[in-house]
Amino acid sequence: MIEIKFSKKEIKKNLKVPIENIVIKKSLSSTNTVLKSKANIYGDKTVLLAESQTKGRGRTGNNFFSPRGGLYMSVLLKKDLPKDLLCITPAAACAVRKAIFEVTGKPTLIKWVNDLYLNEKKVCGILAETTQISKNSEKPCCVLGIGINIEKPSKGFPPELCGAGTLFEENETIHPNLKNLLCAEILNNFFEILKKDKSEYLAEYKKYSFLENKNLLCNFGGKVITGRYLNIDEDFSLILKNENNEKVKLSSGEVKIKKWC
Ligand code: BTN
Repeated sequence: MIEIKFSKKEIKKNLKVPIENIVIKKSLSSTNTVLKSKANIYGDKTVLLAESQTKGRGRTGNNFFSPRGGLYMSVLLKKDLPKDLLCITPAAACAVRKAIFEVTGKPTLIKWVNDLYLNEKKVCGILAETTQISKNSEKPCCVLGIGINIEKPSKGFPPELCGAGTLFEENETIHPNLKNLLCAEILNNFFEILKKDKSEYLAEYKKYSFLENKNLLCNFGGKVITGRYLNIDEDFSLILKNENNEKVKLSSGEVKIKKWC
């Protein structure tokens, strides 16, 4: 495994958006945790990158396995936040999907609400967290975290992550600059998408939905709901048709694919 490293110079070369501060760390606990704790010092659009994380975090308190070789990035959003902060995760999902396709040609799909899948396996997770700029400030800011499994970890994935996949298989050649190209393209796409009306990226979000034609098992606040995928609503809620043929709308929750019906 050749380690593909981040380089500020290479990222900046490919950026189309003005990003002044890019911080690269070899290893830290979690780029989201660190960036959140420094939100009062760092400026808008600061990007924090890590070659590995010791306490990578996912949604609903899950860990995000973050060995060397993956892409772990967080972006601090202080200005020009969308009115509806819940749009940040779907906007980021569209931006990352597009960037992966443009840079690698890999056709990932979006699994509501914050994951990207390739060949039925999760290859990317997104965690957007809102926080206060400082204790005395009313103003919210957001830390957008993105984790991508690029290649098989040298010791493999832990057994509990049997649903995890990678963008590249062991026999594939990876461009030496891949992480930098991906990082720049994600940022270019994300800030471009944020300028658009949400109806525009909703269409893209639905077009690339991994859940299309699937039977689902959803955990919504501890309640289990089964049903068939119907649509994504204009507020990015998931719409299912349950076993009684009724429409059910979920604004958040965990979704699994039900294989046996
Ligand atoms: C999920 O799978 O539920 C979301 C995973 C998000 C992982 C990224 S990696 C960079 C950033 N730092 C973290 O601790 N988490 C996010």
